[in-house]
Amino acid sequence: MTQTRFRSAVAPLRRNTTRTIAALPTVDALVAELRPAEPLHCIRPQVLRATARRFVDSFAAATGGDVLYAVKCNPDPAFLRNLWKGGVRHFDCASPAEIRIVRSMFPEAEVHYMHPVKNRAAIRQAYYGHDVRDFSLDSVEELEKILAETGRAKDLGLFIRLAMPKGNAAMDLSGKFGADKDTAVTLLRRARAVGRRVGLCFHVGSQMLDPAAYTRAILMAGGVVAAAGVEVDVLDVGGGFPVSYPDMEPPDLSLFMDAIAEGLRAIALPASTRIWCEPGRALVAAGGSVVVQVERRRGDELFVNDGVYGSLSDAGVPAFRFPCRLVRPSGDSDAPLLPFSFWGPTCDSADRMRGPFLLPADVREGDWIEIGQLGAYGATLRTEFNGFDQARLAEVVDPPLLETAGHGVSPRLPRMAA
Ligand SMILES: Cc1ncc(COP(=O)(O)O)c(C=O)c1O
Repeated sequence: MTQTRFRSAVAPLRRNTTRTIAALPTVDALVAELRPAEPLHCIRPQVLRATARRFVDSFAAATGGDVLYAVKCNPDPAFLRNLWKGGVRHFDCASPAEIRIVRSMFPEAEVHYMHPVKNRAAIRQAYYGHDVRDFSLDSVEELEKILAETGRAKDLGLFIRLAMPKGNAAMDLSGKFGADKDTAVTLLRRARAVGRRVGLCFHVGSQMLDPAAYTRAILMAGGVVAAAGVEVDVLDVGGGFPVSYPDMEPPDLSLFMDAIAEGLRAIALPASTRIWCEPGRALVAAGGSVVVQVERRRGDELFVNDGVYGSLSDAGVPAFRFPCRLVRPSGDSDAPLLPFSFWGPTCDSADRMRGPFLLPADVREGDWIEIGQLGAYGATLRTEFNGFDQARLAEVVDPPLLETAGHGVSPRLPRMAA
């Protein structure tokens, strides 16, 4: 029989070349001691716990509902552990690897398989191997697949993913998944006939800066429920909640909660309907940063040791700007801030991050730069391309580099310095 080997799909930072180092008090102290030649990933446990607690409490106050963490955003065990400590008990998983890591860490967690297109073997593994009962879907074919692979189980939770129009999210997610209204009505009726519980779910797009997008989406969901003429047990308003970046300052989190509450009031679902949401970015972005080292300066271009094939994928084509600060153990710089762009360590000219990233004018080879808001969609996207996959990992006490309004966590950088 052919032998195949799997590369770990989750937590690539935990692979052999990476070692966890003892927690030290601050990023600056770590850099001074280690003088790291590879990227140093800094995890902020207190920030993760405080952010999760604030979000869980805000959502419960607005809706009485539950927060599902979207594990894809960062499946690192240290992140999961601190979210759990912050009160997160539900996990939105999209693959068997994500389900396995959550189940192994928190046997009593509520795990939901919210990927609308699943592999048959994965459905069997989730249902029989990990006691997962909730599955999302957006087609009749997927409903049939789930029913067939679970032996037409009577204890299924079936969640119909609604298509959303292209909105003004920084990361548009429309187009790939989602049933149109007529299909959703058909699916809801069929699911109601066979599921133990049924629900509707959607995603308004990631880094959604407009609270009213949630109200509009909830009204659409209400229209589907009314047209189907069946009751839903759960309405899942998805993820997409934004965080601050240097050029994006979202409205206060409370305004998103108000917009959700307004939509729910308007569609007046029965009081027994449970409300869920699936944030990823909003829970973890501030909890992670990466310290990179400058290997060359060419005018206003800096060659650094992490890039778009590493944890700075979103700084590449999506062109996200990230907050930065110089870390120079020999002494701080008081030079004025100037805009710089980055090149990553690989030989690919696509490994380019235009920024601009604001740093002191005298930044030079050998300096370190801390890049913030990278707890979300950072480390989880790393690859081995060109052999640049080594990184260090440490827990730190620092605040995040930027504040997001309503998250209740104070920042390190003043807004203007971002
Ligand atoms: C189904 C689903 N839920 C939740 C999320 C998390 O989104 P965000 O990080 O924007 O909150 C995603 C992200 O792609 C997703 O696909």
